Amino acid sequence: VDPRPIGIFDSGAGGLTVLHECLVTMPHEDFVYLGDGERCPYGPRPAEEIQRFALELAGHLERQGVKLIVAACNSAAAAALPLLQERLTVPVVGVLAPEAHAAVQATRNRRIGVLATDATVESDRYANAIRALDAGCEVIQVACPTLVPLIEAGVTSTAAMDGAVRAYAAPLCRAGVDTVILGCTHYPLIRPVFERVFGRSTTLVFSADESAREVAETLERRGVENGRSRTGACRFLTTGSPEEFRALGERFLQLPVEAVEHVELETLERAAA
Ligand code: DGL
Repeated sequence: VDPRPIGIFDSGAGGLTVLHECLVTMPHEDFVYLGDGERCPYGPRPAEEIQRFALELAGHLERQGVKLIVAACNSAAAAALPLLQERLTVPVVGVLAPEAHAAVQATRNRRIGVLATDATVESDRYANAIRALDAGCEVIQVACPTLVPLIEAGVTSTAAMDGAVRAYAAPLCRAGVDTVILGCTHYPLIRPVFERVFGRSTTLVFSADESAREVAETLERRGVENGRSRTGACRFLTTGSPEEFRALGERFLQLPVEAVEHVELETLERAAA
């Protein structure tokens, strides 16, 4: 039995979708969630900047004594996962590889679509991960820069959201994909919109579900699970406004987010220097 918590970081509150899936899969574990609300969004930023931010966030979690870190942000995982795994002592699980694996397993016509942020699409990490598993797969990627701001603003059930998703989905539908990776922390929050746009004949792979599965398997493999008869607790940290985090968190998780601790960016930057 290993009582240490699991650390999860994201560019903001979107990674709470990953925490939610982890709580469903591992209700007996404790979690420390760190969101970089002050510097969100990461999607439009260059890879070098995202790498620096990811190292700062993961370093802070490591100093909190976590036993494993989940890079819940797809943009951060795309830019920095190998770097994090090299630099940190604790294991780091990132989104990307688990979804690529799930998509290759699911596709029947070997045409896979990817919807994600600019940073994730530009990194080409999904395409590389898919082709490493099946070099014959065709991968069609579309960056969706307007979706995260609409979701953050709470504009989730409007014609604008529906229209945006249909426009981003159109090239994938024209290419005849039968499987689509929704490669962004925020997309599970509009799961019904994607389901309507793509219909039943398309398999949707959500990164939050796949990451939770990967975390559970890693804990088991390393023999560092917590006792199964207990109920875990969550601690929330943000570089942004604790109030905004609480509001977004409660809406995203439908779970009371009580104390939210503020972390100064200076503290992160100084520790990483
Ligand atoms: N967390 C980011 C991701 O999953 C989405 C929000 C952002 O652009 O920072 O790619």
